[in-house]
Amino acid sequence: METAHIATVGASPVGRTDLPGRDLFSRALAEAFEGLPDPAAVVDAVYVGAQSERYENQIMQGTLLAEWAGLNNRPAERVEACAAAGALALKNAVRDVRAGVHDAVLACGVEKMTAGGTEGATNALAAAFERALEQRSGVTAPSQYALLARRYLHETEATETDLARIAVKNHRNATANPRAMFDHEVDVETVLGSDPVAPPLKLYDCAPVSDGAAAVLITTPAAVSDLGTESVEVAGVGTAANTLAVAERDLTSVEGADVAAGRAYEEAGVGPADVDVAEVHDAFTVCEALLAEAVGFAPEGAGVETVHEPAERSAGWTDVRVNTSGGLKARGHPIGATGLFQAVEGYEQLTGRAGDRQVPGADTALLVNEGGLADAHTAAHLLRRAR
Ligand code: COA
Repeated sequence: METAHIATVGASPVGRTDLPGRDLFSRALAEAFEGLPDPAAVVDAVYVGAQSERYENQIMQGTLLAEWAGLNNRPAERVEACAAAGALALKNAVRDVRAGVHDAVLACGVEKMTAGGTEGATNALAAAFERALEQRSGVTAPSQYALLARRYLHETEATETDLARIAVKNHRNATANPRAMFDHEVDVETVLGSDPVAPPLKLYDCAPVSDGAAAVLITTPAAVSDLGTESVEVAGVGTAANTLAVAERDLTSVEGADVAAGRAYEEAGVGPADVDVAEVHDAFTVCEALLAEAVGFAPEGAGVETVHEPAERSAGWTDVRVNTSGGLKARGHPIGATGLFQAVEGYEQLTGRAGDRQVPGADTALLVNEGGLADAHTAAHLLRRAR
């Protein structure tokens, strides 16, 4: 089997913009290929992660983005699993390169969520929930995650203040990320006093509705040396689909994330204690805590300690730094692009390009991207600095 490497990355800023999704994608691609040969001379195939056609009334994003990039007449497909779409595009690109099907595959993600306002985004996101009972009873993403947050606060000793601290940490991290949607710090009182969205979740517990695009080129080691870029190995991949309906699940178990990360660790031959930096899917603050536990960074009930310096964490915690990009909460969450924004952060951390948010000596990164309620679909990637 070939090894798959990230050869280059690029991303648009995250935020609200008047630009259509295809222009955001062009910005991401231009950044990824700056100083390199034209993409048409390099890219064999394209996968596009995109959550919904409702925002811009556009399907066929595979064809559209390939055309927009001058990549006609090669495979170009959209993949979908709500917010995990970006990581599935990445997974498909890695699979093709590992299998020797292609030498260079572009994984990209794009979402233009703000086109329909908060109401449009809320309706589009509700399509990720089970239809027969849950959609019909009017569930929304915040209301589903509020159930999960209530249960987590009930079953553990964590408090709403602990969740608020996760938002504070991620806003602080985002101030060092030039692509982030939010560039302001917040304090615990601001988070706790922010408007209720779906109690116990408040405005600052939620990821924002965002626009953005990101692109990651996956290649063989030989293709990397032709390009002359610094690369990062995708050493482990794991995905798992889990229950869609909330009524069918144990709310505080994110078993799919445990399984997906476990597969990625196993492929790479590492464990949670080897991971230096992690981007985990904090669509709502409670998700960061749950995922830190599910992927083995934290003991059960202690996931909220992502906010602490490693030396100040409880026994059983690893030294990992979580969501150095600002996470979904503060970098922003343009749904189908999020998994690739996570990969951009992983690449930048492992190649020493993360500027003021650089974790010194970072060698190994875990990315965990989820779609649907919590882990209805999880994709985990383990990245390692190229040897
Ligand atoms: N965190 C912090 N500030 C936020 C924010 C967030 N999540 N969302 C919006 N804001 C800010 C805006 O920047 C704006 O600030 P300004 O007045 O200084 O310009 C203000 O709040 C109002 O913005 P608006 O877009 O009108 O907010 P809203 O009330 O319509 O939407 C939420 C807020 C939380 C309901 C919306 O962001 C949301 O639905 N988030 C969840 C998205 C989601 O479910 N993602 C998928 C997860 S699986």
